[in-house]
Amino acid sequence: MRRAVCPGSFDPITNGHLDVIERASGLFDEVTIAVLANSSKTGLFSMEERIAMAKEASAHLANVKVDTWSGLLVDYCKTHEIKAIVKGLRAVSDFDYELQMAQMNLQLKGVDTLLMATKPAYSFLSSSLVREIAKYGGDVSALVPAGVLKALKSKAGGK
Ligand code: PNS
Repeated sequence: MRRAVCPGSFDPITNGHLDVIERASGLFDEVTIAVLANSSKTGLFSMEERIAMAKEASAHLANVKVDTWSGLLVDYCKTHEIKAIVKGLRAVSDFDYELQMAQMNLQLKGVDTLLMATKPAYSFLSSSLVREIAKYGGDVSALVPAGVLKALKSKAGGK
């Protein structure tokens, strides 16, 4: 079975992430959305909330599942017999960061990374911008799945 993982902090999952996940699900037998901690980022949503949002947003994809892991991504891949990491590449500004991680993951455990060009419509989209726009009451309804929109509104309302 050809397995791939789409890793990320998904704080929260966006339509840009989903586009990459949907296209990966057409290329692999099984795709796992791995909701992971990024030690250089502080989060808005808890891991449980991120996982729930990712599950809801990907429920229509039969070969996609959601999981989490507290260690290195490459160890997750080895444990679950996953040979490929798939990540979206929005613009050249993503490239240095993604290439560095891809090469490190290859060096560490021989796990390959495929960088998938995002749809141009999502090249400006990031979870951090979504959080900021939603925080100040801006409209992000075209940028995130319905469940995420609801969760963002309830976070904003709870403050
Ligand atoms: O969505 P992000 O924040 O760009 O995703 C980064 C993420 C979570 C994939 C990366 O930080 C990661 O793989 N974290 C797990 C720990 C790990 O393996 N770190 C070494 C990466 S070379």
